[in-house]
Amino acid sequence: MIGRMQTAVEYVAESASPWGELKLLGGSANPALSEKISAQLRVPLTDTRLRRFADGEINVKIEDSMRGHDVFVIQPTCPPVNEHLMELFIILDALRRASAGRVTAVIPYYGYARKERKTQPREPISAKLVANFITLAGADRLLLLDLHAEAIEGFFDVPTDHLSPFRIFADHLRTLNLHNLTVVAPDAGGGRRAEAVANQLQAPIAFGYKRRPEEDQAEVIAVSGDVKGRDCVVVEDIITTGGTISKLAQSLRLQGAHKVLIAATHPVLTGDAVDRLKKAQIDDVIVTDSVPIAPERLGPPITVLSVAPLLAEAIIRVHENRSVSELFR
Ligand code: R5P
Repeated sequence: MIGRMQTAVEYVAESASPWGELKLLGGSANPALSEKISAQLRVPLTDTRLRRFADGEINVKIEDSMRGHDVFVIQPTCPPVNEHLMELFIILDALRRASAGRVTAVIPYYGYARKERKTQPREPISAKLVANFITLAGADRLLLLDLHAEAIEGFFDVPTDHLSPFRIFADHLRTLNLHNLTVVAPDAGGGRRAEAVANQLQAPIAFGYKRRPEEDQAEVIAVSGDVKGRDCVVVEDIITTGGTISKLAQSLRLQGAHKVLIAATHPVLTGDAVDRLKKAQIDDVIVTDSVPIAPERLGPPITVLSVAPLLAEAIIRVHENRSVSELFR
């Protein structure tokens, strides 16, 4: 994959796209990821001034002309979710008014994704509302990574590309010298995600059964599958409070798991989540940089893998009208 990526990057300098010049623009949610994508593509980040008025309102000034260009805006809508969403809307609006040729919102973490359906009467479907706002603000297409629910893609009436980080996890796990591997889905909803990793590693699957007595509280009721004496890798999309995986790690240990590792795409890690993970006797918590982690919170047991090469490769393929799904074959 890396070899192909280098070829693609070399190609970007020379090729003409039907969409004009490739421009990259980063919001304030994850500057390090934007920088890495920029370095990977050898395309500089467009100079963009994001400012706050005294009352907290956001203003943006894009310093270069965007007229007729193929613009990719990198902004995971991680906490503070509402701030980052509003900033994204305002950047998209500025680009549309600046006559950008085409605008792709690159959203490696999609805030409000966990509210993608009604579970009780008189509840919103916030993930759909957010999708409406993103396109209304000016996104012509979307580049997304490991959505909590695949159905969210269908909330958009513009083209979307939904990337999966599972090969990145599988490649890393292969280097860890694990034995008798079992891939664990924390709940039924995580089955497809766990299956994708298990297929790559040719490992069996086990399932957790979780319920939430209160919002943001998790209780693991049972684990079914072969975990005794085995190295177990829990595949998860989001770690928010760390409740789900710490409880699941405890259940797996009680059932005799040899090692417990976590592979989770989006390290949202609210409040004391990092302390909870440290206390949970997890051998390794492998996450991606879709969401930034403050430097003081990094360190064992957390390992961060970068999704920048994957996003860069997808961006260049979208820009050149080439297949993105080929990346996953
Ligand atoms: C929700 O169902 C997600 O897939 C994750 O399980 C959830 O975000 C984890 O949240 P927490 O870390 O707060 O248990």
